[in-house]
Amino acid sequence: MAGLALPPTAIPDESKMKKIVILISGRGSNMEAILNARLPVEIAAVISNEPDAKGLAIAQARKIPPSVVPHRAFTNREDFDGVLAMEINRYQTDFVVLAGFMRVLTEAFVERYSGRMINIHPSLLPSFPGLHTHRRALEAGVRVHGCTVHFVTPGVDSGPIIAQATVPVLAGDDEDTLAARVLEQEHRIYPQAVRWLCEGRVQLVDGAVVYSNVAAARGTVISPALDD
Ligand code: GAR
Repeated sequence: MAGLALPPTAIPDESKMKKIVILISGRGSNMEAILNARLPVEIAAVISNEPDAKGLAIAQARKIPPSVVPHRAFTNREDFDGVLAMEINRYQTDFVVLAGFMRVLTEAFVERYSGRMINIHPSLLPSFPGLHTHRRALEAGVRVHGCTVHFVTPGVDSGPIIAQATVPVLAGDDEDTLAARVLEQEHRIYPQAVRWLCEGRVQLVDGAVVYSNVAAARGTVISPALDD
């Protein structure tokens, strides 16, 4: 496991810049979008369950400590989640940001970070939780598709919704074209949601999302466009 020699840092303090740990499993483009947004937050570490995740190299190049907790080394989810929590807690993080982290987490782990862990998912939840969201959206014939940022609660891709972005499904779309259109929006809404979270502008209160100083959306999304 990389980075174990780092000393533990101070207990989080409300007046200090918030600290996040980003969990990935692969490409890391959402992680990179968060890094590129240059948010006023400290990105304490990037942790992957996949040793070969491309995002680890991106983190390293950006001087963010990369770390691996390889799930295949564990025989059950409880043990993996226990070690993952230990690794996260070494950084005294305020928030845990799942960015393409493709492991189902145990209820105990999720409860431990209740209100402090968010996820991005490539569909308009609660439609299409799980895998192959773009293929399933095409098969279902939906006219709008999109992505969702949500607080994480037990269950796959479930929890109170913080932000969503929609995209049209266009004639001739295939999984790749639709995925690319959605990903562009993921890269817009996820850094913004992380900012809101770290600035205390979005909170989970009694199981519901509470906003402060977050503007309401303007307009309506209609697809196909109506004739004028
Ligand atoms: C993203 O599309 C993200 O929404 C999705 O994995 C991809 C990771 O890409 N997450 C999920 O499906 C979670 N259920 P990235 O590694 O380039 O950010």
